[in-house]
Amino acid sequence: MDIIKTIPEIRSILRKHRRADETIGFVPTMGYFHEGHLSLMDIAREKSDILVISIFVNPTQFGPDEDLERYPRDLEHDARLAEERGVDYIFHPDVDEMYSPNFSTYVKNLELSNLLCGATRDNHFRGVTTIVSKLFNIINPDLAVFGQKDHQQAIIIKRMVEDLNFPVEIVLGDIIREADGLAKSSRNTYLNGREREQAPIIYQALKEAKKMVEEGERSAGKVKKYIRDKIDSVELSEIEYVEIVEDTMLGSVDKISRGNFAAVAVWFGDTRLIDNIILL
Ligand code: PAF
Repeated sequence: MDIIKTIPEIRSILRKHRRADETIGFVPTMGYFHEGHLSLMDIAREKSDILVISIFVNPTQFGPDEDLERYPRDLEHDARLAEERGVDYIFHPDVDEMYSPNFSTYVKNLELSNLLCGATRDNHFRGVTTIVSKLFNIINPDLAVFGQKDHQQAIIIKRMVEDLNFPVEIVLGDIIREADGLAKSSRNTYLNGREREQAPIIYQALKEAKKMVEEGERSAGKVKKYIRDKIDSVELSEIEYVEIVEDTMLGSVDKISRGNFAAVAVWFGDTRLIDNIILL
């Protein structure tokens, strides 16, 4: 496995693989790997000849008051885990390699970027779609794998790929959870002891909401209230949003039908956690 820092070098390496008719699978990440990231690499590994991942904490998707500086980083640990999972190349550029001083061209979905997480995280999805476009242009993968945990991100990227005709297949990997149900996230490391104890309430609420729907409840209002009340029942939670939406244009629904999912963002102290579940 090689760690490549520059765009010309990764392009030249991958050109050779493409000439040899090898397919390229890609997993973009911001590093600090947990089982969630590794499961995405397993999917890409199985479906492609060459597996490339990127590790890049992308500044344009962080707001001015967000956690860009304190976002956890550990390249040595990540490289060891990636090698164990059969990664061929890690693309690990510096910020200057990806953003020149005159950088001023962005990619933004105009319908989906300001909903759900985008309502409070100004320009977050613009940063995501911009960096993912750049990475797709550099790596030119046949397929790219993203996690369902960031369901809105996955939907926006699928929309972008279709709208802008990127020749890449998007594959989604399941949410990987801790034993107590908390969705794995690099940001879980920010939680203190009491916050960590209470955070699994998020998944409990989502799981019970899914059960309500499976047993016949179709009112989005009632299911949202159930989720809210359950999450509010622990002292340290502060709900940012609870929504039930359809899975193409993220429209809010009144009556739950197939493909709809519940999505939540909840603060525990300074840590913002997101999670979601397909209800039907
Ligand atoms: O999901 C992430 O880790 C990031 O948003 C991504 C897709 C790597 C873009 O920076």
